[in-house]
Amino acid sequence: MQRQVFLQSLIQWGWIYAISRLGWSAESQKSKTVNAWWQGHQALATALRQAETDPMMWQDAVQTLCQDIDLAELLRLLDFEHLYAQQQLPKQGSKIFRVQTEAFGAQTVRLAPKIFANAKGTAVVPHVHNQMVSAHLILAGRFHVRTFDRQFSEETHGHVLLKPHMDRILGPGDVLTMSDDRHNGHWLVAQSERAFTLDIALTELPFSKPYANPGNAYSMIFVDPTGPLSAQGWIEAPILDYEIAMARFGGSQ
Ligand SMILES: [Fe+2]
Repeated sequence: MQRQVFLQSLIQWGWIYAISRLGWSAESQKSKTVNAWWQGHQALATALRQAETDPMMWQDAVQTLCQDIDLAELLRLLDFEHLYAQQQLPKQGSKIFRVQTEAFGAQTVRLAPKIFANAKGTAVVPHVHNQMVSAHLILAGRFHVRTFDRQFSEETHGHVLLKPHMDRILGPGDVLTMSDDRHNGHWLVAQSERAFTLDIALTELPFSKPYANPGNAYSMIFVDPTGPLSAQGWIEAPILDYEIAMARFGGSQ
């Protein structure tokens, strides 16, 4: 899709978006209200579902959109103070909360954001996705985030091919995105007593990679990305059952 057409589709939604790739200044868009952020997500979701933009443009736009949000307002609308005080977080993996979005404004496209809450040392275990895009906005705490690019064309049944991309500590306001085309794999380990991310995902997108390995009901494939790098920088990562992934990576990392 031509970028001008893409922009027009956003303007039709009453939302003019500063896409840094186009050379516009993002500074004037700082502290974007939650309603504008929410409308932006819906415009981008619509554009992607209708193939009016591509996955990597969606990632770039969502990255900037999330970086510009008024995080304090978002936390207030999420009643985050109450959520943060939840006493019981699992010793392995995440506690997942569905987000009620009425306070964000009108919804014309069904988005179902979730909050992942992790106690220190527990993980959003390493996984990849098929036919999906998602963005994780860190709400509180710190995560050790590792992301991976994925080579679909030479994938074999039972393994995925991954190339390490990011290996960083991320904190409040930081964003990571994924798609089939870029940074498809991710793995988040909580580094603070509690760490929370807001996940907005779009599934069952009309992408057409050679999918040698099916995803689960959430388009997820759990993997072990800790194997050796090939000379070309790739890891042949075995696919894991959920229980094994959780036992190996879910806690005490
Ligand atoms: Fe994911």
